[in-house]
Amino acid sequence: MTSTLRIAPSILSADFAKLGQEVRAIEAAGADLVHFDVMDNHYVPNLTIGPLVCEAIRPHVQIPIDVHLMVEPVDALIPMFAKAGANIITFHPEASRHVDRTLSMIREYGCKAGVVLNPATSIEHLSHVMDKLDMILLMSVNPGFGGQKFINSTLNKLRQTRALIDAHYAATGQEIWLEVDGGVKADNMASIVAAGADTCVAGSAVFSSPDPDGGYRTVIQSLRDAAKK
Ligand code: DX5
Ligand code: ZN
Repeated sequence: MTSTLRIAPSILSADFAKLGQEVRAIEAAGADLVHFDVMDNHYVPNLTIGPLVCEAIRPHVQIPIDVHLMVEPVDALIPMFAKAGANIITFHPEASRHVDRTLSMIREYGCKAGVVLNPATSIEHLSHVMDKLDMILLMSVNPGFGGQKFINSTLNKLRQTRALIDAHYAATGQEIWLEVDGGVKADNMASIVAAGADTCVAGSAVFSSPDPDGGYRTVIQSLRDAAKK
């Protein structure tokens, strides 16, 4: 368990007709990152948003934009997202021919770099690239849609990944964030954080509570409170 906890609302569940207002609202409600889900109807069976939308929301918030690429191939989009104001770019190793090159490229463009592991993807993918990672994202649902149920075997994988990160930190002093994405709610936050996550994506949990009633702030605070239990 770590002392830092970052909450990253996924705008996949936001109202796309008023995205500027939505990202301002989550920042005002205490979000630490904007989680930005990019889907291509090829790597995943859904189609969402690209660099143009990233560029459009960038001036609306100060907090980092955490771009989760569910696309194949990956590399051509990296310069485009970097120019559009992305701060963190993560991708799925199965979707890149040359994972090490893609990670290096993300950092060369001035962003933090990370890989995303699907529920059935082994943590073996991390072993030769730890020094190039700023973030590891574990999917706790199969990627493609918001509002799915948290897959419980992710907890064990979080513990294993936390051990790798801590050992790497002890040996090198290099920090790597551990993010979890999919089905995160107040009722599973305590076990997720106890298993070692320091960054939690929450889409439907945050955006299902109408903000004019203070809903986003209430949910984000309830996620933080639940993590302490
Ligand atoms: C799924 C996306 C997630 C999704 C999470 O492929 O990567 O970021 O928006 O949504 P919830 O929190 O509703 O599971
Ligand atoms: Zn995501």
